[in-house]
Amino acid sequence: MAIRRTWWKEAVGYQIYPASFMDTNNDGIGDLNGIRSKLDYLKSLGIGFIWITPIYESPNVDNGYDISDYQKILGTFGTMEEFDLLLKEAHEQGLKIIMDLVINHTSNQHSWFVESRSSLKDDYRDYYIWADGTMDGPPNDWVSIFGGSAWEYDERTNQYYLHVFAKEQPDLNWENPRVKRDLFQMIDWWLDKGIDGFQVDAISHIKKAPLETTSTKDPFEAFKNVPGIETHLNDLRDIFKKRDILTVGEANGVSAAEAYQWVGETTGYFNMLFEFDHISLWNKDEQETVDVIQFKKALTAWQEALADGRGWNALYMENHDIPRSVSSFGSEEKVFWQASAKALALTFLLLQGTPFIYQGQEIGMTNLPFTSINEIDAVDTKNFYYEMIHSGVDPKNALNLIRKTARDNARTPMQWTAEEYAGFSKRKPWMRINPNKQEINVLHELNDPTSVLNFYKAVIQLRKENEALIYGRYQLYLPDHPQLFVYSRRLADERFVVISNLSKEFASADLPENVQIEEWDLQLSNLNDHTIHQHTIFAPYEARVYKHK
Ligand code: GLC
Ligand code: CA
Repeated sequence: MAIRRTWWKEAVGYQIYPASFMDTNNDGIGDLNGIRSKLDYLKSLGIGFIWITPIYESPNVDNGYDISDYQKILGTFGTMEEFDLLLKEAHEQGLKIIMDLVINHTSNQHSWFVESRSSLKDDYRDYYIWADGTMDGPPNDWVSIFGGSAWEYDERTNQYYLHVFAKEQPDLNWENPRVKRDLFQMIDWWLDKGIDGFQVDAISHIKKAPLETTSTKDPFEAFKNVPGIETHLNDLRDIFKKRDILTVGEANGVSAAEAYQWVGETTGYFNMLFEFDHISLWNKDEQETVDVIQFKKALTAWQEALADGRGWNALYMENHDIPRSVSSFGSEEKVFWQASAKALALTFLLLQGTPFIYQGQEIGMTNLPFTSINEIDAVDTKNFYYEMIHSGVDPKNALNLIRKTARDNARTPMQWTAEEYAGFSKRKPWMRINPNKQEINVLHELNDPTSVLNFYKAVIQLRKENEALIYGRYQLYLPDHPQLFVYSRRLADERFVVISNLSKEFASADLPENVQIEEWDLQLSNLNDHTIHQHTIFAPYEARVYKHK
């Protein structure tokens, strides 16, 4: 299939979690003017667009993912005028902006829900999913992704409503055409403003199985990629396809085998997806190291499913929901921290797809050493913690687990400088600052040619300058090697090979025949060894990329 070139295939994205990015009015919470004040920095990274997580009116039970008004900006973030100014200035700098689109649910404070719960006969009743209880209580045994029953009883009308996430996030009823009509109008309203696309949140949950369904394999089966979802997604696609925008769906429960259906080049619902396969590999309770073979397998399945122009991938190692990648996939240990952050960068940025860098990832930010549950903000983490305590888990062990898995690890303020509040604010921020701001911060890394930050810039630049690294065919080598991730990218005569050791031990391998090293030029490396041998040794977390002469 011929290559179809688009801006969103060539660009690198950068995800901003606004509450923790930059605070300009010193209330301890990041804001839109903060993002605007950092446009030069963002531009200097070489990225092409930013994705801003929700900034809409919200009671903030789930940090903005509980929207009470889709067309208003939350006061702590700023005003609609400030948003318009941000959009204008970003565009002037050549940066596009994509927004978060949260349409599986609203806040329980949204006027639709306030109306809906008011009476059985209300005009908005069917905007949400209501059902009668049974003898045992809730209508069925479905559980919420955030813990506990997925149903909440509402006294006023003596019925239960469904919430896949927190109880303050009631699920919208997509079977009601009026819901779709209102959501689609809202989408058009934002697109008319000139934004450049959407991250479509939790979209694989919009279709629910019949209420009689009981889950067998997966506790969330009844509302995860349920058959029939295609009708809704096709309708959504009809809205999107009228514009030259980027759409990326958050697609928990969608497998590589279904990738083509979801993001096929001409018929897919979205341009690309955030798949969960590779990332769920280290979300395991006790797992200390990454299974490199499984990791390669998960990513390769998506790379191959969408190869040869069939579709496009979204690439990520971090976001606001998961721990920091250096802490999980790499290593926080002093001797390995920098090399591992760079190895992960090289490995994921040069795969086929559009890479998304999460704020702070580019300087190698790490997890926060939480000392108490009181430092945790995320609603799901608190639920899980108290569930563990109630079931008799030792608080120390519960906290240990939370420390490794909490979403808040990624939500600590961006480390701009070594100052008391990391240059993020002049006041104590809403979330604790990582004590390692001393060593890990933007200012320091800008001045250090060997920093993680400068390495990110170099890899982004390399990708930009070489079409093969954007459109080239991916091929995996040594699939069974337990430490090395080796792949090539090829477009016509242009060939690159990326080799990284994703372990703390030295690794050796006989590189495959068709990677004839005498004919290769080193482009970038995270250590200083510039030679490669057919039978070669790789230092811990060593990573290199070569180009065929
Ligand atoms: C997505 C978001 C997450 C949020 C959830 C519910 O998974 O990334 O932060 O809590 O949707 O909206
Ligand atoms: Ca602020």
